[in-house]
Amino acid sequence: MKTVKDYIRTIADFPHEGILFRDVTTLFADPRGFRMAIDQLLHPWAGQPIDKVVGLEARGFILGGAIAHQLSKGFVPIRKKGKLPGQTISQAYKLEYGEAIMEMHEDAIQPGERVLIVDDLLATGGTCEAGLKLVEKLGGKIVGCSFIVDLPELGGRKKLEAMGQNVQVLCEFEGL
Ligand code: PRP
Ligand code: MG
Repeated sequence: MKTVKDYIRTIADFPHEGILFRDVTTLFADPRGFRMAIDQLLHPWAGQPIDKVVGLEARGFILGGAIAHQLSKGFVPIRKKGKLPGQTISQAYKLEYGEAIMEMHEDAIQPGERVLIVDDLLATGGTCEAGLKLVEKLGGKIVGCSFIVDLPELGGRKKLEAMGQNVQVLCEFEGL
């Protein structure tokens, strides 16, 4: 039987020469693969108290929407700067070259709400760390962080776990 990892396509030299891009669109496009991924992502959280699912732009929206629907909880997007129409809070994070900014609506999380953060891929953990900080600025409590793919060589999982986070990944890829 195929595993979640088997549905993920690797594209060489994207977005830069020498990079292996782990492309989850082939997983999302397959009805069995997509359901398998959502079911596996849900597994540790079913029965746990969660109030909101937060998805990180962009593929975290696809996963987070499906998970929030299945848990019958609300969904909150964290977006790149300048995309959200209401009052926002923002958090800078490091990219390969330079810095970027993530934003969240300031009324999207209420103090004390328990939050699950979702994204497609964990690399250095910088994106997720920005998400955690935004949720925590609003007084939210992080229950866990879920990803389809981890790139262990980049150390994101270790970093998040060292911060006390409960991290779930469905598969790992060696080689960058
Ligand atoms: C990718 C991926 C994660 C992030 C992981 O997103 O989807 O969100 O990088 O990297 P990190 O753990 O080192 O922060 P990207 O920034 O390419 O943007 P996109 O999702 O909008 O395409
Ligand atoms: Mg992303």
